[in-house]
Amino acid sequence: MEVNRKSIQKKIADKWTTKSQNPQTIKNKWWKSKHIIRAINMRVAGLPLDGQSAGLVQKAKEMAGTSVPFSLGVSVGCGAGDKEMSLISQGLVEKFILYELSEYRVELGRNYAKSQGLSDRVTFVVGDAFEMLKQDEYCDFIHWNNSLHHMLDTEQAIKWSYKLLKKGGMFYMDDYVGKNYLQFNFKTSEICTRIRNILPKIFS
Ligand SMILES: C[S@@+](CC[C@H](N)C(=O)[O-])C[C@H]1O[C@@H](n2cnc3c(N)ncnc32)[C@H](O)[C@@H]1O
Repeated sequence: MEVNRKSIQKKIADKWTTKSQNPQTIKNKWWKSKHIIRAINMRVAGLPLDGQSAGLVQKAKEMAGTSVPFSLGVSVGCGAGDKEMSLISQGLVEKFILYELSEYRVELGRNYAKSQGLSDRVTFVVGDAFEMLKQDEYCDFIHWNNSLHHMLDTEQAIKWSYKLLKKGGMFYMDDYVGKNYLQFNFKTSEICTRIRNILPKIFS
C-alpha cells in the first residue's frame, strides 16, 4: 500500500515538474497555434493572415469603407484592453471607452496604454457596463472580443449594443459561437478527443 502511495506521489510530482507545465512554454491554447489562427483568418477574410483577429480587422475595414476610423468605440469585458489598443494602432478606431470588472486587469491595461503612448485614447472604467452606460446612440463602434459569451444574458447584451450604436456604426464581435456552456453531445466530444489524441504534442 505504502509503495502504491509513493508511486502516485511521484507521478503527481513529475506531472507538475515537466516542462509543459511552465506557463512560458505551454501550448494548450488554440490562439497560440499559428495554424489555427491562419485557418480562422482564412475563413473570415479569405486570406491566411497571421495574428489573432487579423481577418476580422481586414473585413471590418473593407465593410466600413470611408467610415474608418470610427470615432468612439465601446468595449465590454476588455481585460487589459490590448486588443482594443491594437485596433487604434491599426487605424480602425480613434478612441475607446473600456469596461472591465477586474481592477487588476484594468491596472495592467492602463500601464500598457502608457507604454504605447495611448493613454489619451483609451478610458478604462472599472465596473459593469450595463449598469453604467444607458445612453442610446452613444458610439459608432461596439467591440466584443471573447467576452460576449461570458455575459449572463447574451441576447440582452446584443440588444444593449444595438441601442448604443449610432446609425452607420459597427457591431464588431470576435467570440465563441458554439454550444451553450460547451455542452457538446457525446459523439462530438468523442470525435474531438480522437482528433486531439492524434495531434503531435507541439503543433504550432
Ligand atoms: C475571457 S475575458 C476576455 C478579456 C479580453 N476581451 C480578451 O480577449 O483578452 C472576459 C472578461 O470580461 C469581464 N467581464 C465579465 N462581465 C463583465 C461586465 N458585465 N462588465 C465588464 N466586464 C465584464 C471579466 O472580468 C473578464 O476580464
